[in-house]
Parts: sequence; C-alpha cells; structure tokens
Amino acid sequence: MRRSLATASLLASSLLSLVSAESLLLEARAQYTSTCSEIEQAISNVSALHWPYLGLNAAYQKDIGHWAVSSTAQAACSVEPGSAEDVGKILQILGKNKTPFAVKGGGHASNPGFSSTEGVQIAMYRFSDVKYSLDNQTAEVGSGLIWDEVYAALEPYAVNVVGGRVTGVGMAGFTLGGGYSWKTNQYGLTVDTIAGFELVLPDGTVAQVSQDSYPDLFWGLKGGFNNFGIVTKFILKTHYQTQVWGGIITITQENLEAVNNATVKFSQTVTDPKAAVLPTYNFLLDAPGVSLLLFYDYPTAPAGIFDDFLAIPYFTKDVKTRTFLDLVGAAPSNATSGTRCIFHTVSLEQYTPTIMDAVLNETKFWGEYLSLRSGTFISYDVEPFLPSIFSHGASNSSAYPPSRATGLLPLNIYYAYTAEVDDDTFYDAARQSAARLAAVAQGEGQDIADAPLYGNYAMFDTPLERIYGANVDGLRAVRERYDPEGVMALAGGFKF
Ligand SMILES: Cc1cc2nc3c(=O)[nH]c(=O)nc-3n(C[C@H](O)[C@H](O)[C@H](O)COP(=O)(O)OP(=O)(O)OC[C@H]3O[C@@H](n4cnc5c(N)ncnc54)[C@H](O)[C@@H]3O)c2cc1C
Ligand SMILES: *[C@@H]1O[C@H](CO)[C@@H](O)[C@H](O)[C@H]1NC(C)=O
Ligand SMILES: *[C@@H]1O[C@H](CO)[C@@H](O)[C@H](O)[C@H]1NC(C)=O
Ligand SMILES: *[C@@H]1O[C@H](CO)[C@@H](O)[C@H](O)[C@H]1NC(C)=O
Ligand SMILES: *[C@@H]1O[C@H](CO)[C@@H](O)[C@H](O)[C@H]1NC(C)=O
Ligand SMILES: *[C@@H]1O[C@H](CO)[C@@H](O)[C@H](O)[C@H]1NC(C)=O
Ligand SMILES: *[C@@H]1O[C@H](CO)[C@@H](O)[C@H](O)[C@H]1NC(C)=O
Repeated sequence: MRRSLATASLLASSLLSLVSAESLLLEARAQYTSTCSEIEQAISNVSALHWPYLGLNAAYQKDIGHWAVSSTAQAACSVEPGSAEDVGKILQILGKNKTPFAVKGGGHASNPGFSSTEGVQIAMYRFSDVKYSLDNQTAEVGSGLIWDEVYAALEPYAVNVVGGRVTGVGMAGFTLGGGYSWKTNQYGLTVDTIAGFELVLPDGTVAQVSQDSYPDLFWGLKGGFNNFGIVTKFILKTHYQTQVWGGIITITQENLEAVNNATVKFSQTVTDPKAAVLPTYNFLLDAPGVSLLLFYDYPTAPAGIFDDFLAIPYFTKDVKTRTFLDLVGAAPSNATSGTRCIFHTVSLEQYTPTIMDAVLNETKFWGEYLSLRSGTFISYDVEPFLPSIFSHGASNSSAYPPSRATGLLPLNIYYAYTAEVDDDTFYDAARQSAARLAAVAQGEGQDIADAPLYGNYAMFDTPLERIYGANVDGLRAVRERYDPEGVMALAGGFKF
C-alpha cells in the first residue's frame, strides 16, 4: 500500500516534470517564433526569412540542410541576409532576445549544433560574389560560397586561392578554422593567405578587418570561427594557376601494404612543395580499401615523385592533366552525404611505418566493429604535408595554430553511420581510436601528447586548450572586447 502510494506520487511528479519540460519547450519555441517575426519585420528586401510550413518549403530546407544529417536541426525559421546591414539588424535582435541561433556557410560542420539550431538559422547563401583584383592580387569572396564556386569564378583569370581539396566544402567555416589545402605546402594554411575580412560585430557594426584596422580581430578570426561576429566577405591573396595533374585511384585490400610503404616514402623523401597526396583508408562493404588522391601543381608531374603509388595495382583510376576545379570535383566527397557523421583527429610529427600499420589496423578493427552497428563508411585521412607548413605565417600571426615552431600533420578520423541511437558508440570509438593512434606515435618518440588539434576536425568536446594552446586567454580577451554581452555564445561551436 505504502509502496504503491510512493510509486503513484513518483509517477505523478515525473509526469508533472514532463509536462513542465514540455511547456518550457513550447515557451521557448514561441519565443523563437516571435524573434523570427521581429527579424522578418526588420530586414530589407535584399534579405528573406523562411518558415517551416507544413509540407515542403524548399528554401527553408536548403537553409537548414547540412552535409551530415546529424548536423541539421529543425530551426524555428531560417533567414538569408543579403546585406551586412541586415546581418547587423539580425544580430541585434538575437542578442536583445537572447534567442539561440546558428550561422551556416557551406554546412559541412561535422559537429552537431555548430552551424545548426532550434532557434534562428542564418544561412549566408546571398553573400555569393567573387571579385578579383588584378592590381591587389586578391579576391574578395562572399562567405556563402563553396570552394568549387570560388575556383570556377577565378578560373577565367588563371588565378587561384588556397582553399578546399574536395567538392562541396564551404569556404567560410574552412577558412575560419585554419584551412588545409592542396596548396598548403607552397603557401601555408588558408588563414596565412588572408588580407582582410568584412565582419559584422555583435552590436551590428560592419567592420573592415585588416592587420592595420583591427589587429586583434584580424588575428582572432584566423582560427576563431564564429566567436567575434559574422563574416560576410573574405579577402584572399591570389596566385597564378596553370592546369594541374592528379585525381583519384581506388585500391583494394590485397595492396594496402604497398600503399603504406609508398605513403611513408612520400612523406619522408618528397620535398617538392607542389606535390601532395591524400590516402583515405576506409572500411566499406566489409573490406578495407584506400581511395588515394594525388596532386601536382603543374600540368605534368616530374618523374619519381608518384611512381610508387602509380605502380600499385588499382581498382579504379582517374588521374590526368585537368583544371584545378575539375580535380577538386573528381573526389566524390558526397558519397556518404545524407548519413550521420563524426570527425576526430590526431596531430602527428611524422607518418612512419609503425603509424601506417596502426592506421590500417584501426581501419580494420573499427571497420569490423562499427559495421555491425550502423556504420556505413569508417575512414582515416592520412595527410602527409611538409614539416615546413607553418612557416608561411609569422609566429603568432593567427589564433590557430597556436605555435608555429613545428609543423604538425593532421590525421582525420571520419565515421559515417545511419542510426541516431548509435551516436555515443561512434563518438566513443572515434575517441578511442584517436587515443590509440596518439599512443602509438608517442610510443615511437613523437612529441605530440599536447600537440594542438585542428578545430575543423576535432570532436565537439575537445578542450579549447587542445586547439588554441596558449592563445586561449588572448582569444577570450578579444571576445570580451567585441562581444561583452556574449551574443555569439548563443550560437554553437568552440566558445571563448
Ligand atoms: C567532405 C569534407 C571535406 C573536407 N576537406 C577539408 C580539407 O581539405 N581541409 C580542411 O582544412 N578542412 C576540410 N574539411 C573540414 C571543413 O574545413 C569544415 O567542415 C568547415 O567548417 C566547413 O566549412 P562550412 O562553411 O562548410 O561549414 P559550416 O557548417 O557552415 O560552418 C562551420 C563553422 O563555421 C562557422 N561559420 C560559418 N560561416 C560563418 C560566417 N560567415 N561567420 C562566422 N562564422 C561562420 C559556423 O557557425 C560553424 O561554427 C572537410 C570537411 C568535409 C565534410
Ligand atoms: C527594395 O527596396 C528599395 C529601397 O527601399 C527599393 O528602392 C527597391 O525598389 C526595392 N526592390 C524590390 C525588388 O522590391
Ligand atoms: C586594393 O587595395 C587597396 C589598398 O588596400 C584598397 O583601397 C582597394 O579598395 C583595393 N582594390 C580592390 C579592387 O580590391
Ligand atoms: C613494404 O616495406 C617492407 C619494409 O621495407 C617490405 O618488407 C615489404 O615487402 C613492402 N611491401 C610491399 C607490398 O611493397
Ligand atoms: C554527388 O556529386 C555528383 C557530382 O557532382 C552528382 O552527380 C551526384 O548526384 C551526387 N550524389 C549525391 C548523393 O548527392
Ligand atoms: C589493432 O587495434 C586494436 C584497437 O585499437 C587494438 O586493440 C589491437 O591491439 C591492434 N592490433 C595490433 C596488431 O596492433
Ligand atoms: C598572440 O597575439 C595576440 C594578438 O596580438 C595576443 O592577444 C596574444 O596574447 C598573443 N599570444 C601569445 C601566446 O603571445
């Protein structure tokens, strides 16, 4: 009797708390909706706000859409600002009402909630101009573009910028995190090639940010993502671009030891900065394999550099002289789009035989294990850049990397899967796999225990210190200076 009374009151109270959680949620939704209406009234006719009407609303769906479905959320509304002034008005309303929001460039964020929200989704598509200046050797690029569009716009001038390696990636998030490119061995990270930003500050001010005008913001935006406001334009340095040589080769499991050997040899002997490779070890359809991207920044590659890779028996091969844009389109990076995903990363000093054995073993181990869950594509991107990649910027010229003393080579873990109930399984696996690879590297003497991780590859719960090192305090100070009310903290991401 006593027991059933207790059970009954427990039931009643949990029901009550369910009801109150529900009503809190409804209250929040109502508040988001009224913020949406206020924004709709405030913006000019170059901007548009979209509601999630029942049935299809293509513009709203496009605005909230992401490369990974796990990075998409059902926003109360979406808004596509068409001018920096309207971005300012939107930020002022969001800040006043303390409404959660998200800023989306190309929507390739791997972490849930980094560019998605249940509040107001800002989609930057209308910032889509590319203006090349021959005199300044720069291109002014709208923050709503993907790299393919930037390359296509610059191709007629035979110039290029330091941007993404595969098709579909947004230029904004890529650049605001750092930017590892086919051109990085020659020119550094994308952040090393920036001449300026147009930034809308949380108070609505439109700032032209350069080394001269706002040195603190100019430094902080080079790695600091969405912490200081919303970027509407980037001014990037350009360089002359010929046709290039390269493409993609796929290789099946019998030949992966040869890929390991060729990768180690490339990494340890090739010093030509025009050459780059990107082998992705993957587990697909119950077997390990490699999709190998080759790049040389000239119409023909000198003999020797890629011979070992080209001698490996292959499954498919599409390697030739082509435009840069065509090369970027050759890698089918959308093969797994529409699935859930998680990224994580390890920073290495070198790709050694031991590391490559461990990468192959991790591919098989986690490939087998996660394929029994809802895994569809388990992969490891091996990125053997030159050790000099951080020498293209002055010491502490950018928020990321926090130190330029040694070049660090990122390895990206990428798992694609389908079931939301498996989220934690995949997050845990990525953490364990990254820890294992780091331990193997340390076991052979690589000094990477505290090496900075790349923010565009790091999992959402990575401590700020692991990405920004000794720069965290400086970044907090810049944030406090330009966003004292914490408006940008209403948007997801790594927050100062
Ligand atoms: C298939 C694929 C290939 C990739 N290849 C590479 C690669 O070769 N090299 C590399 O370095 N990285 C690579 N990445 C990682 C990539 O850099 C990140 O996913 C990057 O964040 C994508 O930028 P986005 O604009 O598409 O992302 P979004 O999801 O739109 O944004 C990412 C972050 O940037 C913020 N942001 C976006 N726009 C603005 C803005 N205008 N103002 C302020 N903040 C903004 C968002 O709020 C969010 O926090 C790749 C990712 C994928 C999925
Ligand atoms: C947009 O508004 C401006 C100024 O208010 C006006 O001059 C212009 O005609 C409008 N354009 C459209 C397409 O409505
Ligand atoms: C070229 O640079 C100068 C000086 O920074 C600037 O005033 C001018 O607007 C730039 N021109 C273009 C077309 O970008
Ligand atoms: C890879 O390198 C190792 C060590 O040099 C060698 O023993 C092995 O035969 C090589 N394997 C292939 C497939 O080239
Ligand atoms: C991937 O991109 C290619 C080339 O742009 C396109 O033909 C194909 O339909 C896309 N696939 C998916 C799943 O989006
Ligand atoms: C392969 O990887 C798994 C998971 O990290 C590990 O437990 C195992 O010991 C590894 N095997 C070898 C031979 O390294
Ligand atoms: C790097 O420079 C920034 C901006 O000038 C400054 O705030 C920061 O403290 C510096 N970081 C270090 C570690 O010196």
